[in-house]
Amino acid sequence: MGRKSARELRMAARVLEPGPVVLVTAQYRAQPNVMTAAWVTPISLDPPRVALAIHPSRLTHELIGKSEYFALNIVTVEYLSAVHLCGSVSGRDLDKFARAALHPIDALEIDVPVIEEAAAHIECGLVGRLSLGDHDLFVGDVLAVAADAELFEERWLHLDEAPLIHHVGGEWYAAAARVHRARLPGAEEEQEALQEESGR
Ligand SMILES: Cc1cc2nc3c(=O)[nH]c(=O)nc-3n(C[C@H](O)[C@H](O)[C@H](O)COP(=O)(O)O)c2cc1C
Repeated sequence: MGRKSARELRMAARVLEPGPVVLVTAQYRAQPNVMTAAWVTPISLDPPRVALAIHPSRLTHELIGKSEYFALNIVTVEYLSAVHLCGSVSGRDLDKFARAALHPIDALEIDVPVIEEAAAHIECGLVGRLSLGDHDLFVGDVLAVAADAELFEERWLHLDEAPLIHHVGGEWYAAAARVHRARLPGAEEEQEALQEESGR
């Protein structure tokens, strides 16, 4: 992937806006791991926060619970096999970084590796945990955001050439390729005011 540059923390929401599958990285002491997650969402712009649902059986659940840090890595469809592998095998049984040919590198702010091949990453510190069903919701304060200088400005720019990955179910995935611009009926200034008001 190209060079990533640091972004405002509130850009975490924009990075996740298209709803892509992410690779969650976690580390406790000398044990790093990477897991695929689809149940991920921004939950606050100020303070910037994201949340993800993780089943207690995952090694990732254990590592985040112990270290209280994690990172979300967003990859383009080029890395689909890696995404599927990291969602099919546990780090308890395999070094998934090596098998998926994903390179862990130092994050900007936290002691958890991020993935070199990712087009963007969001570094988080755990601020809350909720058990509402069979998965636990981990809430993270966004501590740093970095995104590929060519692919992301204030939003993803080239989803046609470098689409993000969406999970459809089982071994099926979709890649969002076409971006449509919506226009609200009414004057241009009115549209801008509405957009600003919604913060989106
Ligand atoms: C596309 C996809 C999305 C997934 N999303 C989640 C998720 O949101 N939460 C979760 O707990 N497991 C999810 N999984 C399952 C885990 O990624 C899988 O159980 C993984 O092997 C756990 O790895 P670990 O034990 O190394 O942490 C998903 C799997 C796939 C293939």
